[in-house]
Amino acid sequence: MSLLELDGVKVHFPVRKGVLFDRTVGHVYAVDGVSLKVEAGRTYGLVGESGCGKTTLGRAVLRLVDITEGEVVLDGTNLAKLSGEEMRRVRRRLQMVFQDPLGSLNPRQNIESILAEGMAAHGIGADSEERRAKIKEVLARVGLPANALSRYPHEFSGGQRQRIGIARALVLEPDVIICDEPVSALDVSIQAQVINLLEELQESLGLTYLVIAHDLAVVRHISDVIGVMYLGSLVEEAPSDTLYAEPRHPYTRALMSAVPVPDPDVEDNRERILLQGDLPSPANPPTGCRFHTRCPWKQETRCATERPELRDIGGGHRVACHYAAEIADGTIGPRQSATAPRAAGEQRPVDAAVPAEAGVGAAAGAGPGAEEAVGKE
Ligand SMILES: Nc1ncnc2c1ncn2[C@@H]1O[C@H](COP(=O)(O)OP(=O)(O)OP(=O)(O)O)[C@@H](O)[C@H]1O
Ligand code: SF4
Ligand SMILES: [Mg+2]
Repeated sequence: MSLLELDGVKVHFPVRKGVLFDRTVGHVYAVDGVSLKVEAGRTYGLVGESGCGKTTLGRAVLRLVDITEGEVVLDGTNLAKLSGEEMRRVRRRLQMVFQDPLGSLNPRQNIESILAEGMAAHGIGADSEERRAKIKEVLARVGLPANALSRYPHEFSGGQRQRIGIARALVLEPDVIICDEPVSALDVSIQAQVINLLEELQESLGLTYLVIAHDLAVVRHISDVIGVMYLGSLVEEAPSDTLYAEPRHPYTRALMSAVPVPDPDVEDNRERILLQGDLPSPANPPTGCRFHTRCPWKQETRCATERPELRDIGGGHRVACHYAAEIADGTIGPRQSATAPRAAGEQRPVDAAVPAEAGVGAAAGAGPGAEEAVGKE
C-alpha cells in the first residue's frame, strides 16, 4: 500500500447567484476525478497550467476544502471520513509549503513564535524550552542561523523565507509535505538551492513529497513520478524519465515541446506543437475528452463524446487518450497547421507553443536556466 492514495477525488465548487435567495446556478469542476498514489519516501510531481486544479487538489488532501466525492487515504485511513477533531490530529502528519512565503508568515510574529505556534497546538515539546531547542535544530537543518529565532519575516530574503516555511512544516515532524509551487516566487539561482534543500531533507528524514508546479523543469529534477493535469484531471502519469522520454498524451507533448533542449542542433530541428484556442473554463468543461477543443490529433469519432479513462500502458505509464497507441506509432498524425519545425535562428519556442497565460509556457521560458541551476551541486 502507498503512503498516500487518492481515489476518484472530486472538488466541485458551487457557483451561487442571488442576494436574497442564494441559488446554486452551476459548479466549478476544479478537481474532477483524480486517482494517484504517492509512495513513502518518494516525490510525486504534479504539473499543469494555471487554474487546472493543482492547489485545490493539495488543499483537498489536507481537507482545507470539502471533498465532493472520492477518497484520500493516508497510511490506510480515509481522511474524507474523519471528524474535525480526528482530522486535526492527522493534519500534523500532512504539512503544506506555500508559493508565497511572505504571504504565509505572520509579519508581526518573530520566527520562534511562528514555529512554536503549530508545535504547541499539536502538543510537540513539553514546554517552551524544549520547543526552542527543537526549533534551533530545525533552523540549522534548513540552513538558517540560530539568531533567526528572534527576527521577523521581513528581515529575510525570499529564499530564506521559503526555508522558514519549510522549517515550519518540519518542526511538526510530518510524513508528507505538499509543496505548492515552492520555488515559483524565487530567482532561478535561489530555486536550485531550495530544491536541493528539499531533496537533502527527503534523504535524511525520509519525507514524502507531493510537489505542485507549472514548471516542468523544476518537477523533473526532483520527482520520481510525474502527473500531468488538465482541467481538473490527470491526462498522463509516468515515472519521471519515462514521461520525458516518451510523452504519450497530446497535451504532455505540447507542454514538452515548449521546453527548450540544451543541445542547439536538437533544439533547432525539433518539432513544436501549437495549441489552438484558450483553456476552457472549469465551470463549463468540454464534453468527451476535455482536451479535444485544443488537441491537434483530435478525431471525429469518440474525442468529443467519450471521456477517456487513464489507462495503464505498461511500466507504470498511464495515459488518458483514446488514440494514444495510434498517435505513438504514427497511424494518426497531427493537423498540419498544429506543428512547425523551428527554423535555425528563430526565437525560442516559448512564444507560441502554449498561450502565455497558461503559465506552463511562460515557465518553460525559464526552463534552461532553471534546469541548469537545479542540476548543479
Ligand atoms: N474557493 C473556490 N471557489 C470557487 N472556485 C474556486 C475556488 N478555489 C479555486 N477555484 C477555481 O478552481 C479552479 C482551480 O483552481 P486552482 O487554484 O486549484 O488552480 P491551480 O492549478 O492551482 O492554478 P495556479 O497555477 O494558478 O495556482 C480555478 O478555476 C479557480 O478559479
Ligand atoms: S482523446 Fe482525442 S482529443 Fe483527447 S487527447 Fe486523445 S486524440 Fe486528443
Ligand atoms: Mg495553485
